[in-house]
Amino acid sequence: MATYYQEPSRTFSEYLLLPNLTTKDCVPDHIDLTTPLVRYRRGEAASLSIKLPFASAIMQAVSDDRMAIALATHGGIAFLYASQPFNRQADMVRKVKDVNPTQPLVVGAGINSRDYAERVPALVEAGVDILCIDSSEGYNEWQRETIEFIRNRYGNSVKVGAGNVVGREGFLYLAAAGADFVKVGIGGGSMCITRETKGIGRGQASALIDVAAARDEYYDATDTYIPICSDGGIAQDHHIVFALGMGANFVMMGRYFARFDESPTQKVRLGDQWVKEYWGEGSNRARNWQRYHEGGASRLEFEEGIDCYIPSTGPLAKNLQTTVSKIKSTMCNCGAKSISELQEKARFTLVSQLTYLEGDAHDVILKHELPTADGVRDAG
Ligand code: IMP
Repeated sequence: MATYYQEPSRTFSEYLLLPNLTTKDCVPDHIDLTTPLVRYRRGEAASLSIKLPFASAIMQAVSDDRMAIALATHGGIAFLYASQPFNRQADMVRKVKDVNPTQPLVVGAGINSRDYAERVPALVEAGVDILCIDSSEGYNEWQRETIEFIRNRYGNSVKVGAGNVVGREGFLYLAAAGADFVKVGIGGGSMCITRETKGIGRGQASALIDVAAARDEYYDATDTYIPICSDGGIAQDHHIVFALGMGANFVMMGRYFARFDESPTQKVRLGDQWVKEYWGEGSNRARNWQRYHEGGASRLEFEEGIDCYIPSTGPLAKNLQTTVSKIKSTMCNCGAKSISELQEKARFTLVSQLTYLEGDAHDVILKHELPTADGVRDAG
């Protein structure tokens, strides 16, 4: 008989954080967002960490060398897209690593479970800091084999994340396989239609809460801490704090970064607004069949992502600053000066539909919705 979970799966928008006591030393300037990227033993420090818990998605529309340089300069990390010839991807790694020898920048790269025997050596030789197996669903033997190949060839010197999973079984499988971090999330991406097409997935908050609990139990049992990354579905800046509070060590975002001038896609005028192109790796446009590899045909038989536009929002630096200010402000309200403190202290409440509505502007006349003198609605 099938297994039935009685609780519906939840997403970030169904939660709110309750404030804790803010002590006088808990101010934005004192908040440290440094976070580990790779597994480590209790009492030791991770061999690779980042100052800003943001990773840009392994997508053609998001992570090329230009984005990697911009994001790493601000303390985050890009994972260069894998759906390109490995020599070209390795060239991108070199461009990031060569830029500024005085300030070494970290860079990651996506790989797949098909051509790793050629791709991994090329990326390692180019100086990549960390790899990540890019797959829409990662609880499978191909991922274990890919990690095995890396461990046999390089021992623990080459770092590799795996995923994506949405529950404890998937996490424990990839942890045992030797993944340095595990990525969480299926079907929550902004341009994703995986849930519609295939009927698999789980609300992002529930997936994360379940995996984080498994990670903590694994740490208690083995003294090995494995970072987790919340991937996809960040629709509001505060969702980032929720993800961190629910146990993620960092978040991976596609839409968020694709909006910026530094993303690889075209900026287009659409009516009276500027937009950027954005498309899923599972769309016909990306033709990234390796990401959806299930051992069968080497082609994309149906789409799991769409090709769309998103509003263009200017340069990365300015937007990042606003987002980080919001995150730090929320953390101050929660009385947390670090991500690990937030994870210990965060108190989440589920919201009713009415509470949700109460949180929006209500019972007021919105100026930008007023008709103009000629009767035409102002687009704001
Ligand atoms: P976003 O930040 O909500 O835009 O989601 C980005 C994430 O969506 C990526 O990091 C991937 O995990 C996932 N993704 C990328 N391309 C596709 C696709 O074509 N279909 C489904 N999910 C995708």
